Amino acid sequence: MKRDRVTLGGKLSAVLVAAGSAVGLGNIWRFPYIAGENGGGAFLLIYIFCIMLLGFPVLLAEFSIGRHTRKNAVGAYRSLSKRWTFLGYNAVLSPFVILGSYFVVAGWTLEYLVVSLTGGITNYVSSAANEQLFNDFAISPVRPIIYTLIFIVITHIIIVMGVRKGIERSAKFLMPLLLVVLAVLAVRSVTLPGGTEGIKFFFKPDFSKVTAATFLNAMGQSFFSLSIGLGCMITYASYFKRDTNLTATTSNVIILDTFVAILASTVIFPAVFSAGIAPEAGASLVFITLPSIFNTMQLPWLWSSAFFLLLGVAALTSTISLHEVITAYVSEEWHMSRKKAARIITGLLIVLASAASLSVGIGRDYTLFGMTLFDLLDSLTADILLPIGGLCTAIFTGWFMDRRILREQITNGQSRHLFVYRTVAILLKYVCPVLLTVIFLYNLGFFSLLTNIFVSLQH
Ligand code: TRP
Repeated sequence: MKRDRVTLGGKLSAVLVAAGSAVGLGNIWRFPYIAGENGGGAFLLIYIFCIMLLGFPVLLAEFSIGRHTRKNAVGAYRSLSKRWTFLGYNAVLSPFVILGSYFVVAGWTLEYLVVSLTGGITNYVSSAANEQLFNDFAISPVRPIIYTLIFIVITHIIIVMGVRKGIERSAKFLMPLLLVVLAVLAVRSVTLPGGTEGIKFFFKPDFSKVTAATFLNAMGQSFFSLSIGLGCMITYASYFKRDTNLTATTSNVIILDTFVAILASTVIFPAVFSAGIAPEAGASLVFITLPSIFNTMQLPWLWSSAFFLLLGVAALTSTISLHEVITAYVSEEWHMSRKKAARIITGLLIVLASAASLSVGIGRDYTLFGMTLFDLLDSLTADILLPIGGLCTAIFTGWFMDRRILREQITNGQSRHLFVYRTVAILLKYVCPVLLTVIFLYNLGFFSLLTNIFVSLQH
């Protein structure tokens, strides 16, 4: 039975497919704005530190679980330990939560692509005008949902085409395209008048802006960006070949993912400084500030189309990976064809994403815990599901899983990479649980609660 499972083809495929999942809105939209809010260069250094201490071991652990068990996330955990099967369910349910809001933002990139291709981008002349245009669009009940639906359907089609034809082929084509377009845009952006200010901001650390929150933001961002904590990489690694070098794959995915985040920042910060916009502008950085920057260039529609195409492409390879986690589970555990499984999941996602889209506009007044559905899905992911998933993965692989599995997977049954295995085992056992517990408690407001108690005790 096990031998029949599809595997990926060429040597590069494992890296491309996993990097396709990792590289997404997280790198191009989220990373620059979080870095902008956290002082630029200093954030970059702290982020790299988190990637090495947390990202590397957890990603390698997920790869090991996936390739060892060669099963979907639930099946994988169940076959390793009945008690830890809940982690598999967490892994299958969380992609719904992420996709609910991710598809909405992905839909926005399509709208901006269409506006760019049709020349409408020339109306985006000032930050104020752009904000107005963005709000008019996002708040309207129909247009955003249509784009979100189109995005869901494209994801669905690629999923139904299957692991080899769909996922592997699209990653092989889309990843290199993405790097080329980003590199061209970076060159254009750096050469804008005043652009070097942006480079200085991003590459020259200013530690005066670093606070405890900077570390915590960097940790959360590293998880989101590497697609870890949800079993996404477990599912993908279940398709890896037996002789794929997991250590090299992990390093390459991390290098590519970080490179894209840095390249995206090299596009965004020089452009932001050149136009005199504050780098702390926040989540609106891409949709509200970039269009007017394109308008300072020759052929604005071309730059703008290239950029939003790229953002859409990056988002697509990520939505595919999230959809695949659920599809693999439903088709394997419920004994259904991929097609039928994908159809059920897509149906549910359409309902969820449409509701999330409406909650930005006409449904704004329906809130839960003071948040719209869109914000709720977003914060549930970053604040709760990812830290819990990552923490449990580290505790499980560090303390409970048979050590030989990790060793066998990392070394491919040989004596190479023994050093990597030993280091990763220590990181998983001690360093990750401690760091992740800190993030989690912080996100729950535990520390501000402590500070409040402390302050009130002093009075
Ligand atoms: N990493 C993707 C991004 O940067 C998003 C993503 C895909 C993700 N799969 C995931 C995030 C699994 C967390 C877990 O946009």
